[in-house]
Amino acid sequence: MKRVGVLVSGRGSNLQALLDACTGDFPARVACVVSNIAGVYALERATLAGVPALVCSHRGKERSAYDAELRAILEANGVDIVCLAGFMRVLGPGFLAGWPVINVHPALLPAFPGLHGAGQALAYGVTQAGATVHLVDEGTDTGPILGQATVPVLDDDTEDSLAARILPFEHRLFVQALRQVAEGRVEVVGRRARIALRTGEERWMR
Ligand code: GAR
Repeated sequence: MKRVGVLVSGRGSNLQALLDACTGDFPARVACVVSNIAGVYALERATLAGVPALVCSHRGKERSAYDAELRAILEANGVDIVCLAGFMRVLGPGFLAGWPVINVHPALLPAFPGLHGAGQALAYGVTQAGATVHLVDEGTDTGPILGQATVPVLDDDTEDSLAARILPFEHRLFVQALRQVAEGRVEVVGRRARIALRTGEERWMR
């Protein structure tokens, strides 16, 4: 059973999807939740689920010092895999060397990284938006892609309505990606992630 550290910065709906999935024979459990911002709803979700909810503020800290502090917290909680569930900070090499790190993003990467992925896609005028889960490297929303789902853009969409249509796909992709990483079925070859299939696995997300 793999121990997952989930980093958050906000409401935590993706965290909730992971908490809900991590039961029974799912190969991972959420070991701790760490937010860089105090008082966010994600921390309450963790507490409600009986998972340690911690705050590690980035304010006034150099990148490398912050990375080291986060890393110490995750090590103290015996974490094997890190999930970025709406965590709005870029992590450095000192942190990323420690674990596989999985991120979820509300756009079809490499298009529209950073903040407001759905809003950027809408403003650009795409007809298909979507969600991406990927292994994290040192860039902003970059690294080998584990799964993507496309979502149509409708004529009367706003950023909020499009983001809301994308969100359930984020949740499903994120849970699927965590399962694949926890089961050791992900191999990175160059820029590409190759995922070994399990019998009966749904293939819609690739
Ligand atoms: C999600 O849409 C996630 O994809 C996005 O933040 C939101 C967090 O929502 N992450 C990024 O944009 C990363 N660049 P949540 O707190 O309800 O999971």
